[in-house]
Amino acid sequence: KKWYAVIGNPIGHSMSPFMHNSWFSQMEIDATYIPIQVIEEDLDRAVSSMNLLGISGFNVTIPHKEKIIPLLDILDPMAEKMGAVNTVVRLEDGRLKGFNTDGLGFVRSLEEVVGDQLKSEEVLIIGAGGAARGIAFALETLGYSHLTICNRTVEKAGAICSELEQKAAAISLQQASEQLNQFKIIIQTTPAGLKNGDFSLPFSIEKLNSTAIVADIVYNPLMTPFLEAASQKGATTVSGLGMFVHQGALAFNYWTGQSPDLLAVKKQLIENLG
Ligand code: ATR
Repeated sequence: KKWYAVIGNPIGHSMSPFMHNSWFSQMEIDATYIPIQVIEEDLDRAVSSMNLLGISGFNVTIPHKEKIIPLLDILDPMAEKMGAVNTVVRLEDGRLKGFNTDGLGFVRSLEEVVGDQLKSEEVLIIGAGGAARGIAFALETLGYSHLTICNRTVEKAGAICSELEQKAAAISLQQASEQLNQFKIIIQTTPAGLKNGDFSLPFSIEKLNSTAIVADIVYNPLMTPFLEAASQKGATTVSGLGMFVHQGALAFNYWTGQSPDLLAVKKQLIENLG
C-alpha cells in the first residue's frame, strides 16, 4: 500500500484528499491520501518525517510552496523557474523531487473551455503573487505571446515581467480597468473572489469586451463576484475548479504514471462545494 499527503496550514478545507482518494478507488490503486497540518516552523521536520514514514509523494499548499524548495533534493525546471513547488515525488532512491503543476493545470483548464487557438491574443493577468507568477510562466511556455500583468503594487508585476523571456507589460489596476476592452483573456488571481474574504472586485470592469474570456483561480464559490460581473457583460467565464482538478491530475500522473478521469471527479466536487 502507498501513502500520499498534502501539507499546508490551514488544511482542513482542502478538497485534495477527496479528489485523490476518489481517483485511487476508481482506478483500484491501493493508496490513501491524507491532509497534514504543518505550521511554518515545523516545515523542515515535517519534510524529513515524510521520508521516515514512507510517504510516496505529497502536495504542498499555502504557506509552504516557496519555503519547501531548499528542503528538496531535485527541482523540475518549471518549478525552479516559478520559485514554487506544489507537488513532491519521492524517487526510488529516496530523494525528493519538486514539481509545480499549478500553472500548467490552469492553462489546461482554460484550453478545455476555449481551445488552444488563442495564443496570439492579448492576455491580462490580475495580481502578481505566487499564483500569477506560475500562470505567467506556464502561459509563456505554452506559447501565449502577449502577456500583460496588472497589480495593486505595480513593481511586483514588473518583477514577474522581467523574469519572463518575452516582453510583457506591467500596469496598474486603474490602467488595466481603462484598457480592459483590449484584452481577450483575463485571469483573476487575487483573493478578491474568496468566499470569506474581500468581496470587492479588484477594479471596475465597465469596459470589458463581451467576447472576452474571464477566468478566476478561486473555485469556492464557483461563481466569484468577478466572474458573475463578467458573465453579466456577456463574457465566457472559467472557474478555478478546472485548474484545481488539472493540477491534481498532473500530480497524480507524476506519482502513479496514470491519468485519472477528470469529469466524474469535477461533478462530485461541485456536489460537495458549499
Ligand atoms: P498567491 O500566492 O495565492 O497568488 P499572494 O502572493 O498573497 O497570493 O498574492 C496575492 C495577490 O493579490 C497580490 O497580487 C496582491 O497585490 P499586492 O501585490 O499589491 O499585495 C493581490 N491583492 C490582495 N488583496 C488585494 C486587494 N484587496 N485588492 C487588490 N489586490 C489585492
